[in-house]
Amino acid sequence: MSGFSPEWLALREAADRAARAPSVLESARHAFSGVPRCNVWDLGAGTGASLRAFAELLPQEQHWTLVDYDSANLAAAGPALERWADTSAQREEALELGKDGRRLTVRMQTADLSQLPAGTVPWDRDTPNLITASALLDLTSAAWIQAFAEACAASGTAVLATLSFDGWLGFSPEHEDDAAVREAFSIHQQGDKGFGPALGPNATAALAAGLESRGYRVMTAESPWRLGRRDGALLLALIEGIAEAVAETDRLPASSLAAWRDQRLATLESLIVGHEDLFGYRPA
Ligand SMILES: C[S@@+](CC[C@H](N)C(=O)[O-])C[C@H]1O[C@@H](n2cnc3c(N)ncnc32)[C@H](O)[C@@H]1O
Repeated sequence: MSGFSPEWLALREAADRAARAPSVLESARHAFSGVPRCNVWDLGAGTGASLRAFAELLPQEQHWTLVDYDSANLAAAGPALERWADTSAQREEALELGKDGRRLTVRMQTADLSQLPAGTVPWDRDTPNLITASALLDLTSAAWIQAFAEACAASGTAVLATLSFDGWLGFSPEHEDDAAVREAFSIHQQGDKGFGPALGPNATAALAAGLESRGYRVMTAESPWRLGRRDGALLLALIEGIAEAVAETDRLPASSLAAWRDQRLATLESLIVGHEDLFGYRPA
């Protein structure tokens, strides 16, 4: 399982769905109630999990553009969306879906968001009413977030950005190297993920400030993963992923890190991974 592969995204989707903050989702639902149609761009779309999670909050007629630089993820999005929908048909470049009485048109766009100054993300069709992103913001940089906030404000576009890592890893039972692992992981999170030095745990606060200073009303809430042994494969993949990231920082002796990893794989009962969700909109 590597990087942001379709297999990894499938493994985390149920945990993501359980974690998103109801208060933030309800704010988005409320903002779009009474609106007949909406145009949504999902950034860092992966295999379309945000669409599957957010469609029920949004109007009867929805036009989605899924943006990702990984064409393998976007290629997997079509079949995943077809499995999720009640009805589906491919028409020219668009996938037309029916789900719970809603009609959705979905287009895929392969693009590297880091190479597009966010202020010039090419809204080549209608200007979006909403931009969504899940598990993306923490990869981006302070400069990118500010340009993104500026681009949203220029068109008054609402933003629903969920599952941005907030820096917290809570291990139970505790191990003497947990704090060192947490610190090293946080340093890794702030390395360059393609957008310049990543904001990591500070991403949600930066976007909230960027939007509020441009007249937006912003809601944020915690949306942690609360994982236990029942989450088997996800829990194991996370321990491996954390250990790999920490190894890249050289902050722990390799022997200590290996011992920590082995101990955690054998005995970890629960893991809390902190996230934050945000919904921002500009009141009429
Ligand atoms: C953690 S995954 C989340 C995927 C999806 N939003 C979800 O919740 O399942 C992050 C996604 O962002 C995409 N991504 C990362 N950097 C990107 C960039 N510079 N441009 C476009 N997509 C990017 C990855 O390919 C991956 O699909």
